[in-house]
Amino acid sequence: MAKVLVLNGPNLNLLGEREPDHYGSSSLDDIIGDMRSLAGACGVELAHVQSNSEGELVDTIHGAAKDGVEYIIFNPAGFTHTSVVLRDALLAVRIPFIEVHLSAVDAREPFRQQTYFADIAMGVISGFRGESYLLALQAVLNRIEPGQAAK
Ligand code: DQA
Repeated sequence: MAKVLVLNGPNLNLLGEREPDHYGSSSLDDIIGDMRSLAGACGVELAHVQSNSEGELVDTIHGAAKDGVEYIIFNPAGFTHTSVVLRDALLAVRIPFIEVHLSAVDAREPFRQQTYFADIAMGVISGFRGESYLLALQAVLNRIEPGQAAK
């Protein structure tokens, strides 16, 4: 069965209460629940990790390679704009990933318009609040061979 990892960075555990004008009113559990329904219906295994620690996110990316994860859907949150080490981890494991943001980062403060990931990502989806994650998952599902999904 194809494995997809959803990886969320700092402060995203507070979704639902945190700045709803930017991030919407859905909790992270709501979003992951919707993703699990879609992944399950398509015979794809979905793992989820949220961490407020950069080192734990690096370790999770390294572990994903050992676990045979085929795609990562990644919201690096504030680390989007700062983290060479997370970029290096993704380059090291060479797992294709989609960068996701709830808010429209390109329409916000100038420092949010810089990303350490976009040029090495399969693509970037931003601005659709929780739906950004489902759009990313759909893009991943489109790339998983039908025979590979339920194996
Ligand atoms: C975010 C955008 C980042 O700039 C911010 O630091 C976040 C969330 C988003 O999903 O819109 O924590 O990644």
